Amino acid sequence: MEQEKRGQWASNFGFLMAAIGSAIGLGNIWGFPYKMGANGGFIFLIIYLALVSFVGFATMLGELALGRKYGMGVIGTYRKISEKYTWIGWLGWLSGFFILAFYSVLGGFTVRYFFGFLLEMFSSGAGFGGMDSGAFFGSYIINAPVVLLYHAIFMGATIIIVMGGISGGIEKFSAIAMPTLFVMVIIVVIRSVTLEGSFVGLEFMFKPDIEAIKEIGLMRVLKTAAGQMFFSLSLGMGCMITYGSYLSKNENLEKNAMIIPIADTTFACLSALAVLPAVGAFIYQGVEGVSFGAGPGLLFVTLHRVFSVGMGGFMGNFFGAFFYFLVFIAAVTSSISLLEVCTAYFIDKRVAKGLSPDRKKITLIMGIIIFLLGFLPAMDGLGSGRAGGAMIDIPAVIFGMKEVRVAFDCWLDFYDMISEGVFMPLGAMLMSLIIGWKLKTTLIKEEVESTPGYQIRAYNFWDICFKFIVPLAMFFVLLGQLDDFFGLGIF
Ligand code: PFF
Repeated sequence: MEQEKRGQWASNFGFLMAAIGSAIGLGNIWGFPYKMGANGGFIFLIIYLALVSFVGFATMLGELALGRKYGMGVIGTYRKISEKYTWIGWLGWLSGFFILAFYSVLGGFTVRYFFGFLLEMFSSGAGFGGMDSGAFFGSYIINAPVVLLYHAIFMGATIIIVMGGISGGIEKFSAIAMPTLFVMVIIVVIRSVTLEGSFVGLEFMFKPDIEAIKEIGLMRVLKTAAGQMFFSLSLGMGCMITYGSYLSKNENLEKNAMIIPIADTTFACLSALAVLPAVGAFIYQGVEGVSFGAGPGLLFVTLHRVFSVGMGGFMGNFFGAFFYFLVFIAAVTSSISLLEVCTAYFIDKRVAKGLSPDRKKITLIMGIIIFLLGFLPAMDGLGSGRAGGAMIDIPAVIFGMKEVRVAFDCWLDFYDMISEGVFMPLGAMLMSLIIGWKLKTTLIKEEVESTPGYQIRAYNFWDICFKFIVPLAMFFVLLGQLDDFFGLGIF
């Protein structure tokens, strides 16, 4: 009865599309391609695949199994395991809260760029395609009212979908969006690799570059790959616990826990094939201002230039609009999972008291609060601060901690440090320790085998992962993140 009130996936396919949708997002499109190219190419890919195999699959299985067993969101699940673990649930909840606040600001950027190219297609001279990419981006990010407007549009779309409920909103949207997304990315890949000079990008991406690894240091490369992996798979903050809690006992957990990471990794490789060959082609053709890079710069400066100057004309605008729409879809299917983590807590509380879930109201209120939390990352011009013409200052100035490095360069990084940098690896580490040593992997076995007629296939492998490999890997990521943010010089 309670389960009915909370909602359930209508089909395993729908669940898979939603979970894969959560995993595939900005992390795949702007994080993976560059990190792979810059951290050893093909060797990075092998390291990444090994991490997915030994850490990703098990953590995914652990989260899905805990969610389905206890039938609650992340806080409720940890509370049910033991009152004294409730705080671990809160770490996950807060991660979702902070990530969504900046994720939505960035999602808003994709909406802005989509509209920009779309308008340019029909009325050339709308000022978007012809502008210098860097100058456009620079002036856009310090224009707080416009950034906030697009942040609001993105958050509005997220709220509307989550309000629709599990099967009626999230699942319905993902079941259409995800297959479309795969088709779209393949179209962009074909366009990208057939450009003249695309081999420059392919080489950057795939060439096994031992020198780069030696220079960066194997430990740092490992840490980069591991951090990228669990952010990309939406692990460590209870997102998959929450999605797992809406899954019926009839569905095969072990299989699902493999399919989601495989689909996410495939998409990450496709994104790399969509982005880097196009960038490489225009480096080869000598287009000024195009170079390999990461993060917002890659997505909003380099690629803008690739479409507007490199491809140019109607086709450039068409592919520009097409590409940013693709990124928007990928981002929304992730943001809805982040909002669901936050709303599920309140819905669970109401359902436990025998009240109606009141999903619409809770989603709206949560969405608005997170939207407001996004004001800081939306208004500091991604680190430009007041000195750079933005409306507010960066945390380093406000906290008077200028000497503390990267973490405080902008509000976005600050939110990212709290969530992705600390709470998420800590959450994943604690979860696997709890499963491996306290609850014992037999609990996961029982849950997996609660599917009628199914017997767990890889029990010993999961057991070793939960007890040793995942906690160690996460400890390592945690250390590496702290090292990065505070410049401790450990690695
Ligand atoms: N996996 C998403 C991405 O790669 O962009 C980000 C994300 C979504 C992280 C949901 C965590 C989460 F719970």
